[in-house]
Amino acid sequence: MNYIDKNIDFQQKDVIEELPSLKSNFFDLCIVDPPYGASSTKNWSYNGGQKLNGFGGDWKLTSEVWDLLSQNDSFQSTYSWLKELKRVIKPTGSIWIHSTYHNSGFVNVCCQLLGLEIINEVVWYKRNAFPNLSGRRLTASHETILWVHKGGEKKREYVFNYEDSKAFSSSSDLLKEQGKQMRTVWDIPNNKAKDEMQFGSHPTQKPLRVAERILTIAGVKGGNLLVPFVGSGTEMVAGLQYGMNVFGFEIETEYFNLAKARLEHALQETKTQLFAL
Ligand SMILES: C[S@@+](CC[C@H](N)C(=O)[O-])C[C@H]1O[C@@H](n2cnc3c(N)ncnc32)[C@H](O)[C@@H]1O
Repeated sequence: MNYIDKNIDFQQKDVIEELPSLKSNFFDLCIVDPPYGASSTKNWSYNGGQKLNGFGGDWKLTSEVWDLLSQNDSFQSTYSWLKELKRVIKPTGSIWIHSTYHNSGFVNVCCQLLGLEIINEVVWYKRNAFPNLSGRRLTASHETILWVHKGGEKKREYVFNYEDSKAFSSSSDLLKEQGKQMRTVWDIPNNKAKDEMQFGSHPTQKPLRVAERILTIAGVKGGNLLVPFVGSGTEMVAGLQYGMNVFGFEIETEYFNLAKARLEHALQETKTQLFAL
């Protein structure tokens, strides 16, 4: 299935199979939120429907089939998509990769093996992270995001919207003062606004604010954004709203339909805003 519209090319396909057919040096930005390999086949279900004070909502922890990767699979798969992303990204472009400790080592090693230069490692601090149910570990409250570029002979051509990143401010992030350089720790609560969930939800859906911040730093208006693992469409929606042409892949029908609905809505809103100008 495909959803092609103005500025949108979204395909329900296996991205690993499709990447080799994409044009070289075509994308200005790529935001990757891959399977982390964090799910397990152990019975981790917690479907008690209980509400935990202070965390809102019912709890439901389940293993996601698309996220069941052995360590060897995870390494090989990371290597193969990163290798292709290096080919399709422009020398002026950059790639942002989400991870937790489950896959962050693989991502880092693969970048180094492939000569993708690491620009920064961002820590996304989730101050409202879910508590650890087993009581046998600390509460995981962060994810890492690696910002990398193609490297090559002419180094460091990548786009960095330095002034925009300095001007950025957020009332909820006490670590970012307007007019001061952006740091590598971002304090962004992991909750989604109502309108981000209006068409349904995804088990690992990111808040729009994370992708919006990436776009502030490295977005290119009128340029091409690639989102290899779309999920509910967060990064594509943010890219469209920023003014980029967005390209994405999602393998599961349920999430393809969810992301498509979000994109249709975002496109409609963009048109309404243009009309109002
Ligand atoms: C971590 S989630 C992305 C969540 C997304 N950032 C959001 O905010 O909704 C990864 C997604 O990639 C999809 N996926 C996994 N392997 C894939 C593949 N080979 N090709 C395309 N999509 C894939 C999964 O179905 C899942 O929805």
